Amino acid sequence: MSATPVDPASGVVYPVGLRLHDRRVVVVGGGQVAHRRVAGLLAARARVTVVSPEVTPALEALVEPGSLRWVRRGYEPGDLHGAWYAVAATDDPAVNAAVAEEAERARIFCARADDRSASSVWTPAVARHGELVVGVHGGGDPQRAIGVRDAVVAGLTDGSIADRAARTPTVARGGSVVLVGGGPGDPGLITVRGRQAVAQADVVVADHLAPLTLLETLPPSVEVVDASKLPRGRSMAQEQINALLVERALAGKRVVRLKGGDPFVFGRGMEEVEACLAAGVPVEVVPGVTSAIAVPGLAGIPVTHRGLTHEFVVVSGHLPPGHPQSLVDWAAIARLRGTVVVLMGVDTAPAIAAALVEHGRAPDTPVAVVSDGSTPAQRTVRTTLAHLPRAVVEEGVRPPAVWVVGGVVELGGPHDTSPPHGTSPPHGTSPPHGTSPPHGTSPRHGTEDADPD
Ligand SMILES: C[S@@+](CC[C@H](N)C(=O)[O-])C[C@H]1O[C@@H](n2cnc3c(N)ncnc32)[C@H](O)[C@@H]1O
Repeated sequence: MSATPVDPASGVVYPVGLRLHDRRVVVVGGGQVAHRRVAGLLAARARVTVVSPEVTPALEALVEPGSLRWVRRGYEPGDLHGAWYAVAATDDPAVNAAVAEEAERARIFCARADDRSASSVWTPAVARHGELVVGVHGGGDPQRAIGVRDAVVAGLTDGSIADRAARTPTVARGGSVVLVGGGPGDPGLITVRGRQAVAQADVVVADHLAPLTLLETLPPSVEVVDASKLPRGRSMAQEQINALLVERALAGKRVVRLKGGDPFVFGRGMEEVEACLAAGVPVEVVPGVTSAIAVPGLAGIPVTHRGLTHEFVVVSGHLPPGHPQSLVDWAAIARLRGTVVVLMGVDTAPAIAAALVEHGRAPDTPVAVVSDGSTPAQRTVRTTLAHLPRAVVEEGVRPPAVWVVGGVVELGGPHDTSPPHGTSPPHGTSPPHGTSPPHGTSPRHGTEDADPD
């Protein structure tokens, strides 16, 4: 008996969403294809059994915590007993055919990975966007399905496809605040969840270091509030920001507090959370890509490196050493052998460098100052602790900048694989206070794993 043939040219399918929660699903095969299918099945909370003499390490890692059952042998007739759904994903067509035939006899839908024409199921290209699940069948062309899937997700993510129904329940549920870490500035470096929250906001309260180009994508009905705190410039008081968040949320609005980097890294995020909770406003925190790690990374500088440093410390330089309100033990930091990352430390660089040297860090320790990270103006100045004060002045370094101290600064260069911005030349090929020019921009997108048909 053979599986029911499906005419691949027709591409006719009947789309459904299988509710597999706690239902038995059998996957025959343990390679990469099986792995991808299993990920989707586990997301649907199916009870998955994998039948295969060998499985990928990632699949094996799911066995111990009980996420899936592994039958460690080849397929045997009867393995599909009690299953609601099956996947034939071995690299042996004869085995896949046998699995599909058993499924056909037992009236179990079976996705056969190697032969679409002999498969009773075609899996769509899938992506999840919040609660939305996008599944696309390409009329028999998997690449077409993937292309359309990606376009839909990109549209939902950048707001060009308006998910208006997702906005409606906001008012019904009452207002809320979402603290979104926007990353270092490039709109491609915000998280998918953060981007969704921005696209669904009624009010966006934004800092100047947040990815402000995202605001251009918002419809005119969205209120945008500039809550920038410019260093030594105009700034909105924190109490005013807290009050605004609470007031708009209590008025039933979905408020997004869009901040640079991560909200909890020198971002006063917790103060805003506390203000919301004190007023009974539901608040969610969406972590962000912090400039402390991302900005050096974009300049080709890893904050750790095997065999070189086993530690990195992130310090606020907004107060100089010895300042009565400073909470930093600069002497202890000077004793570290690893990487020191200083934020908000352009004006204080001379005092901090002097303190680090005074307390024991070698004056010739390499330093890189990376300004305007992830933007087209990104620039790296390479120097040493002893020469840092002069380099900052001579190179006209302005905030926002992150500076990095330690051996990791000498890495990068030819090994740097950090497009699109800020690839620095290798150490030693740049002048004493060498600067690396900015590079072009190229937006980055992320999509979820998907199972094309
Ligand atoms: C108030 S702190 C906020 C840090 C933020 N929450 C984070 O996680 O990145 C601001 C400092 O972050 C650093 N910074 C933020 N964005 C930056 C960027 N794009 N390039 C360089 N430094 C940046 C600078 O040191 C700046 O003075």
